[in-house]
This record gives sequence, structure tokens and C-alpha cells, in this order.
Amino acid sequence: MGRLSERVAIVTGGAGGIGSAVARALAAEGASVVIADIRDAEGTDLAADLGGRSRFQRLDVTGEDDWQRAVTDTERDLGPVSVPANIAGIMDWGTMEEQSPASFRRVVDVNLTGAWLGMRGVAPSLRRAGGGVIVDMSSLSGLTAYAGVARTRPASGVCAACPRPLRWSWLPTGSGSAPSIPVPSAPR
Ligand SMILES: NC(=O)c1ccc[n+]([C@@H]2O[C@H](COP(=O)([O-])OP(=O)(O)OC[C@H]3O[C@@H](n4cnc5c(N)ncnc54)[C@H](O)[C@@H]3O)[C@@H](O)[C@H]2O)c1
Repeated sequence: MGRLSERVAIVTGGAGGIGSAVARALAAEGASVVIADIRDAEGTDLAADLGGRSRFQRLDVTGEDDWQRAVTDTERDLGPVSVPANIAGIMDWGTMEEQSPASFRRVVDVNLTGAWLGMRGVAPSLRRAGGGVIVDMSSLSGLTAYAGVARTRPASGVCAACPRPLRWSWLPTGSGSAPSIPVPSAPR
């Protein structure tokens, strides 16, 4: 019996590189995994490969209604969500001067607002589950300089900080949050 056999996870970006690895790792520990992505074919194939109670759910992380539907469907079919993993993200390589405002807004919408909508959307379910762990995928480029990723750095930097306030506001629920990268000043 795996360490997560009682757990239900929603992995956004679950059809992508890191997301699918996270989904596989959670399923290997016995979690019921919802692969949530906009790539239907890849997500459906992965769910079939994982087997068990894992399934694919089409979810655009920028859509509030999509989140509502995903959490409702997951609770109905699998139970309350205790491991929301916000892995979905887009990259936009290049310099800041070359980036259009529309591109910047899109990166913030998917990489940052998408994670915020996810935490907010899953919160009631997480409480019903009696607690859990939130995983927010960010990037070291949000904390330090890397050539070529100036366009995604602001969203990454804020996203890395997102879970910190939640640690305090949700402490009474027994829920934790796990930034995907070490944050030296994060409260323990
Ligand atoms: N690959 C790296 O080296 C690296 C490094 C640091 C951080 N990251 C971060 O890790 C995360 C995942 O990266 P990856 O390499 O697996 O990328 P990827 O492109 O392989 O996967 C990203 C997934 O997110 C999905 N996605 C995009 N927009 C979406 C939306 N609106 N709603 C739902 N799903 C959406 C895509 O369909 C895709 O399946 C990203 O947030 C990325 O910024 C990646």
C-alpha cells in the first residue's frame, strides 16, 4: 500500500513534461490522480497508462468555471482533493524589450493567476479532506537571473512567494503548502 493511497490529487499541466512525472510519482504512491490539462489526447493517454482511479479532466487553469467543474467532478468521483499540484505553465523566451504587453499578460494569467485560481478553487475541498499539501511549481528564474527567461521571471517570482501566506492562513486546517523550489525565508 502506497504512502498516498488515501489521497486525491489534481495535477495541472499533467499532460506536460514535469506534470506527467509528478502525476506518475503520485500514482506510484497510490494516490488517485486527476490529470488536468488542455491537451486532451496526451492527458487521456497518460490516465489510461496510469490506470487505477486516475483520470483525465480538461481544465484551462485560467478559467474559474473550469476549476469549479474540475473540483466538483473530482469530489463526486474520487473524494475531496488533498494534493492540488499547480504545474501548468507557459514559457516565453526572449528579452523584455521584445515582449508584447499581451504576451506578458498571458504569462501572468496562466503561470500566476492560474495557480491562484487553483488554490482558491480547491480550498473548500482541501478542508473537507481534513488537510493536505499544495504544490506550486515555479522556477529558480523567479529568484535569480537567467539569460533568456526575462519574460516569465515576474510571474515566477510572485508564484514562488504565493504559498507563504497560505501557510499561515490555513494553519488551523492542518494544510501545508510546498513551494516547488527552496525559498530561504519561507516560514517552517
Ligand atoms: N522545464 C523546465 O526546465 C522548467 C524549469 C523551471 C520551471 N518550469 C516550470 O514548470 C512548469 C511545467 O514545465 P514543463 O517543462 O513541464 O512544461 P510543458 O510545456 O512540458 O508542460 C506544461 C503543461 O501545461 C499545460 N498548460 C499550458 N497552459 C495551460 C492552461 N491554460 N491550462 C491548463 N494547462 C495548461 C500544457 O498543455 C502542458 O501540458 C511550468 O510552470 C514551467 O514554467 C520548468
